Amino acid sequence: MLPAGPLMKEHRLIERMIGVMDFELKKIKKENRADLLFIDEIIDFIKTYADRCHHGKEEDILFKALAKKNISTEHSRIMDELIQEHKMGRSNVKKLSQAKLEYESANTSALRDIISNMETLINFYPKHIEKEDKHFFIPCMDYFTGVEKDTMLRQMREFDAEMIHEKYTAIVSEHEKT
Ligand SMILES: [Fe+2]
Ligand SMILES: [Fe+2]
Repeated sequence: MLPAGPLMKEHRLIERMIGVMDFELKKIKKENRADLLFIDEIIDFIKTYADRCHHGKEEDILFKALAKKNISTEHSRIMDELIQEHKMGRSNVKKLSQAKLEYESANTSALRDIISNMETLINFYPKHIEKEDKHFFIPCMDYFTGVEKDTMLRQMREFDAEMIHEKYTAIVSEHEKT
């Protein structure tokens, strides 16, 4: 398998979650209220899976390895755009998290911010994924030798194995503070 394989597989799950978010957004607009438990699940999915697990592997493994290669101007431009887009996604989920806290503390006008940040994420991910799937990942595999590709796959597996411990260690540490 190519190192692009696990990343593209993760794209499919992110797309499914975007579909679920789109369905929920229509419900929020119709009922003029948000299900806070569901918003929490969205925030956790985007933060933990889409950003830490998925963008984490892209940035810390693939992009880092590409930065050591003499890649084309076009690929270098796309990689810069992808990094900027990850930052934008991160900032949007932060805003969604903030809006959820405000809505929770009875600020009903925060529903507008929940809706607009969900809309931004729903519009952002499919375009970002298409850029990576169709214009970046596969052609970029040609910069690497077979051994380098196998090393990246191993690093990706190790990255994923660490994540479960990282997530729950952070939860325990957070509770210990209170
Ligand atoms: Fe990405
Ligand atoms: Fe991606």
